[in-house]
Order: sequence, then structure tokens, then C-alpha cells
Amino acid sequence: MGDIGEGLIRYQKQGFCSFHTPGHKGRQEFFNGLDFLGSDLTELPGLDMLHASSGIIAAAQKRSAEIFGAEETYFLINGGTVGNQAMFLALENTENKRVLVERSSHRSVMSALVLSGLKPDYLMPIVHPEFNLPLGLDVEQQRISWQDLAACHVTYPSYYGTGFELNRLLLERTSSGLKAPILVDQAHGSHYLGPLFPPSALKLGADLVLHSSHKTLSALTQSAMLHVQGNRVSRARLRQGLELLQSSSPSYLLLASLERAGEFALDFRRWECLQEEIANLHRKVGGDIRILSSKDAGTYGIQTVDWSKVLINTSHLGVSAPHCVNYLREEFRLEPELWDEENILFMLGIGNTAEDVRRLTKGLECLAHFANSVGCTEFKKRWRNTRYRIPPLPKLILSPREAFFAPKRLIPLKESLGHIIGETVSPYPPGVPVIVMGEEMTQEVLDMLLMSQDGRWQGWDGFQNQRIWVLEEG
Ligand SMILES: Cc1ncc(COP(=O)(O)O)c(C=O)c1O
Repeated sequence: MGDIGEGLIRYQKQGFCSFHTPGHKGRQEFFNGLDFLGSDLTELPGLDMLHASSGIIAAAQKRSAEIFGAEETYFLINGGTVGNQAMFLALENTENKRVLVERSSHRSVMSALVLSGLKPDYLMPIVHPEFNLPLGLDVEQQRISWQDLAACHVTYPSYYGTGFELNRLLLERTSSGLKAPILVDQAHGSHYLGPLFPPSALKLGADLVLHSSHKTLSALTQSAMLHVQGNRVSRARLRQGLELLQSSSPSYLLLASLERAGEFALDFRRWECLQEEIANLHRKVGGDIRILSSKDAGTYGIQTVDWSKVLINTSHLGVSAPHCVNYLREEFRLEPELWDEENILFMLGIGNTAEDVRRLTKGLECLAHFANSVGCTEFKKRWRNTRYRIPPLPKLILSPREAFFAPKRLIPLKESLGHIIGETVSPYPPGVPVIVMGEEMTQEVLDMLLMSQDGRWQGWDGFQNQRIWVLEEG
């Protein structure tokens, strides 16, 4: 069976109720009639070519474009990650221009900067004072200068289901009279169809829109879609970028699951019954536990809140989020999507059932009682002392690409002040980099890294031995 196979079986036996990706939640109904072994095929006579589709893949992509409201849709089999990367590779006439990206972007956007060689300017998110997370963005405050931009890339919605004023951003671009494309990472909002959810980025008028269809819809893990409309981005370049990045042996299982995910996405009844149950959850638990809700729209740069993400903050319970997660896993077999010291995110997908949400509601009700019995003010005090903040932006000396390919050496972290850093360091979650490769180490960032006691770090394995990669100079 092997370690991985056995590990998977052990995991499945625990019988967790999934509030994480993938969106199909292991439910067979999305795959009926699909013979998994027999369909594990790639390009063969009678099938089609992903990179030059003209038959069944072309037809399925066309249908998906109709469903999601795009002019054209490309199926992706290497995750939403390649969607972000291909968007950047598709940009033309970028000389002396910068690309505007959110500092809180997913790391695939950072890798897109390395691949494309583009220099970034950053949009800074607003950290919500209660959740201590970057949930919003104030477009007006950013004072975007459109003439210098090759493109603007934004994330809508955030991992946590909050959306900023994307409509305003699009309006600003239009009134600038300039052509900089607006690229949207809608990885966490593939299900934004119909009246139950915020408007999709395509509907609002974005040029390129990425869906990680496996996150909330029924597509298999690693399946995603990239949608296009308008003529601000060259479709030929986009296709070339995708060909460069994606496997030459696309899995037809993934492709077939993408095709079906579109059709299932139109079945709004599945979401309707979940929405009712979630409203119930808020009524029953919202008094005891701080849950992000539609009442938060209009605050801290948040314009929309997706009810299908349940983000709870445990600090007022006086119990750390990891402690609460242990309790919910042990007692209720509830598996969240992610957590940090004080927040837990439960992510619904199209495969969840009303029964799943009732289990979550019950678990959270009992969590409030449990917290009363074990809660201690210690955690509250500690939490208050370790509030999350994004340090001031360090100076960008080299583009991420130049920094990636430059000669580097590993030095003690405490000696890194003033050096150009050779790796991107992000506390995860929420994954907002404190320093990006090519930037100069500042006192604020250094203090933050030296003072941090634990945590998970994205892109940095030097935490244990307190070392960091810097560029060779001279
Ligand atoms: C905001 C965002 N964009 C893009 C991605 C990448 O998607 P994928 O995991 O499908 O490669 C993720 C993954 O978590 C994400 O959170």
C-alpha cells in the first residue's frame, strides 16, 4: 500500500466532516458514471489536445465560458497557481512599467513576479482590528497612478470570503482612459453565480479571472479555470503562457471534473439549503462567538462577505484557536480549512449538506460552553500583546526575478540589516510577506523576525537556525 496510501486510509477512517477544500467533500454524486481508472487518460486519438483544443475540450471550455459569463475559458490542470502565473506572462509592452499587486496576494502571485520579471508596486490591505487579518482594501486610499501600470492584479474574494470594492477599482481604471488590464484572482469565489453570492469579477468587468474550481465547486483537486473577456490581454500570449507552464500530459479526469463542475454550479438549490443552515448557525452561536458576517460589510475596506465561509475568532472565548480546533476535531470530527492563533476558517463547498452545517453549529455551541470551563484570561493577555501588523514596506532594490537568480549566501538573521534579501518570508497564515526577495532588510522587519517565537513560515526555512539568504554584493 505504501506510506501515502496507508496515511490516506488512516485519515479517512477518522471520519472527519470536511470544511476545507475540495468543494466536492468526497461525495460520489458529482462523479457518477465516471470510471476513474478507465478515464485516467491523456491526449489520445479521438480525445482532444488541451494546448490546442478543437474537439471535446474546446466544446467543454465553451460551455464553461457560457456558464460563468466569460468570452473564453481555459481549463487548468496545474491548479489556480498557473492561472496567476499565466496572467503575468501574457502581459505585453511592460518595459518601464510596474504591476500593481496586493501585498497579501497568494504566493503564486509572487512566483508570477519571478517568472515574468515584472517589478511590483503594492496595494496594502487593511488589517481588521478584531480578527487581526487582512480582510479589506480601501481603493480610494491607494491613489493608484494608472499610467505607469502594465496591469493591476487583485484578489477577490480573500481567502476568508471578504470582497473589496472591485467595482470602484474598475471604474477608476475606466475613467483614467488607460488600458491597464485588471486581473482578478477569484480562486476562492468560483461559486459566485446567481443571487446568493456577491457579483463575480467577470460580471463586474475584469479582464482575466481565475477560478480555483476545486476549492468550492466539485472539480477535482488541482483543477481550475482561467476566464477571459475583452481585448486588453492577448489571448495568443495567454495560451502560450499556459502551454509553457502546464503539463504535457493533462489528466482527463481533471478535465472531465471541470466540465461537470460548471453544470453543478448552476444547481443553486444546493447552496440555498446551506445558506439557511448558516443563518441558523449565526443565530445560535453568533452571541457567544465572534463570527464574520454580513454586518461587517462596509467596515475596514470590506464590501462583501461570503456567507459560505465561516470565520470565527476565539480570542474572546479566552482559548487559543489551536486549542479550539483540537476540541472540535476530537469531539465533533470537524475539520476546518485553516487556523492561526485566534481564528478558525470553516469553508463550505457545493458538496456540503445541511447535516454537515448542523454538526458545525452543534460543535460551535458546545465550544462556547467548553471555553467557559477551560478559558483563561492568560490567552487574552498574550493575544493582546501579539497583535498582528504588517511592517512598513521595505525598499525594493531588485525585481523578484533578479533576486531569485542572483548569487546568494546564508547569513545569521541578526546580521541581515541593510542586506538585499534573497527569499520571501511570510508568516502563515495569513501569508502576507514581511519581506519579499529583492527588498532591503529594515530594522522593523528584522525586529519582528527576531522577536517571533514560533509560527509557520512560508518561503523561509531559516527560522529554527535563525539564518536568512541574502544576495552576494559587489
Ligand atoms: C488566493 C489564492 N489564489 C490562488 C491560489 C492557488 O490555487 P491552487 O491551490 O489551485 O493552485 C490559492 C490557493 O490556496 C489562493 O488561496
